[in-house]
Amino acid sequence: MTINIKKCTIKDLRILQEICYETFDETFKDQNSPENMKTYLERAFNLKQLKKELSNISSQFFFVYYNDEVAGYLKVNTDDAQSEKKGDEALELERIYIKNKFQRHGLGKYLLDKTMEIAMKNNKKEIWLGVWEKNENAIAFYKKVGFVHTGAHSFYMGDEEQIDFIMMKTLK
Ligand SMILES: CC(C)(COP(=O)(O)OP(=O)(O)OC[C@H]1O[C@@H](n2cnc3c(N)ncnc32)[C@H](O)[C@@H]1OP(=O)(O)O)[C@@H](O)C(=O)NCCC(=O)NCCS
Repeated sequence: MTINIKKCTIKDLRILQEICYETFDETFKDQNSPENMKTYLERAFNLKQLKKELSNISSQFFFVYYNDEVAGYLKVNTDDAQSEKKGDEALELERIYIKNKFQRHGLGKYLLDKTMEIAMKNNKKEIWLGVWEKNENAIAFYKKVGFVHTGAHSFYMGDEEQIDFIMMKTLK
């Protein structure tokens, strides 16, 4: 079994789009209407939007490979790319998605370690994220790796207002 990581570039746009769609769909389709899913997927992961995010110097995307297959991806933001104003000492873990069939193999932890490495190299004091209050698996994972619940904000899934918990991990 081998695990590898690669930083995405603009050349990876199509593969990135595929994994964004696939992982978001399998994670949330059972708890959301098909209309809201469709609206969200098209808005968040159209090529123009992803190209813009990939070109932002304050955002980084990575693929994680399990035995040479793309198994998941990570997106981290600093400075103005953060989806909330948390300042220049914070790093946002915006997306961490592992395909269903590769979950519970240590890949999420591997991407979290990468996030911590980037945060520490850039002298950040904390890592924060927003997670849907009903995403129990992700919340359990985040607690396991040391995040604590610090607040909440609204998030729109299509026309439905949902609550995201804000979770934070302070770096020593
Ligand atoms: C949440 C997610 C990233 C976790 O990644 P993963 O590769 O499955 O997790 P790992 O195998 O690296 O687990 C790391 C640790 O967390 C624990 N863990 C993982 N998922 C857990 C869960 N649902 N409940 C309890 N513990 C969990 C593991 O047991 C492991 O603990 P250990 O080190 O003591 O063995 C992954 O399940 C995922 O992509 N889910 C769907 C997408 C999603 O919801 N992303 C977050 C959006 S905010």
